[in-house]
Amino acid sequence: MKRLTVPAIQRRKFEGKTEEPLVMLTAYTARQAQILDPHCDMLLVGDSLGQVIYGLPSTLAVTLDMMIAHGAAVVRGSYHSLVLVDMPFGSYEASPQVAFASASRVMAETGCAGVKLEGGQAMAETIAFLAARGIPVMAHVGLTPQAVNALGGYGARGKSQQEHAKILGDARAVAEAGAFALVLEGVMEELAVAVTESVDIPVIGIGASARCDGQVLVTEDMLGMFDRVPRFVKRYENIAETIDGAAARYAAEVRDRSFPTEDQVYRPKK
Ligand code: KIV
Ligand code: NA
Repeated sequence: MKRLTVPAIQRRKFEGKTEEPLVMLTAYTARQAQILDPHCDMLLVGDSLGQVIYGLPSTLAVTLDMMIAHGAAVVRGSYHSLVLVDMPFGSYEASPQVAFASASRVMAETGCAGVKLEGGQAMAETIAFLAARGIPVMAHVGLTPQAVNALGGYGARGKSQQEHAKILGDARAVAEAGAFALVLEGVMEELAVAVTESVDIPVIGIGASARCDGQVLVTEDMLGMFDRVPRFVKRYENIAETIDGAAARYAAEVRDRSFPTEDQVYRPKK
């Protein structure tokens, strides 16, 4: 199986609709990528790794070096899915030139196929600058977690008419600027449908609508590794419970000396 390409992903959206939705999940490690890869079209090395694996309170303290280390691991662990790496807060907003310097490092040092960055209208010039220089960009609009301090929280967006218009305008602006796809997060469903119908690039929803051109979730969220998740997360497993049970059995066996057994120790051959 050959790795999916940006044009192949884009071709999935014909005449304003995608027959078979695109499947995207986040991945942060090589082994995780290996397991998810056959099931996905795209793997996203999300800056959500800040909370999910580094225990940070938000994505704001995530660095370019962190994204590059995990991005390279996910590329090494996959061979089918298109791998995208999030641009962390502070690495791209100042100017198109700053964004290019950061994004070109991500591309060169990880081997990923493109980057994702948050922002609509305000990032259009930067998206055009990167796209014209060989860096495919996935935009991220709606609820943009790097703007949590400006937005005042992680609540759904697009409730007022004004916000609806703003987000629709953002989506159109990034599509026009040359983003190859966009993530639409945490918006009223009606708005998600409107965005999907009004841009000709794939719209990947999260907390959006089943009528988007694809879906993404944070893998640890859908696996039940986190105790607090947004309404839009569906839990497909309860991995935290599985790990808790295994650790409890291990601890009990260490304490009563029933582990290790004969099978796990080295002895001279008879
Ligand atoms: O960082 C992330 O995981 C993301 C997805 C939720 C879209 O941006
Ligand atoms: Na992100």
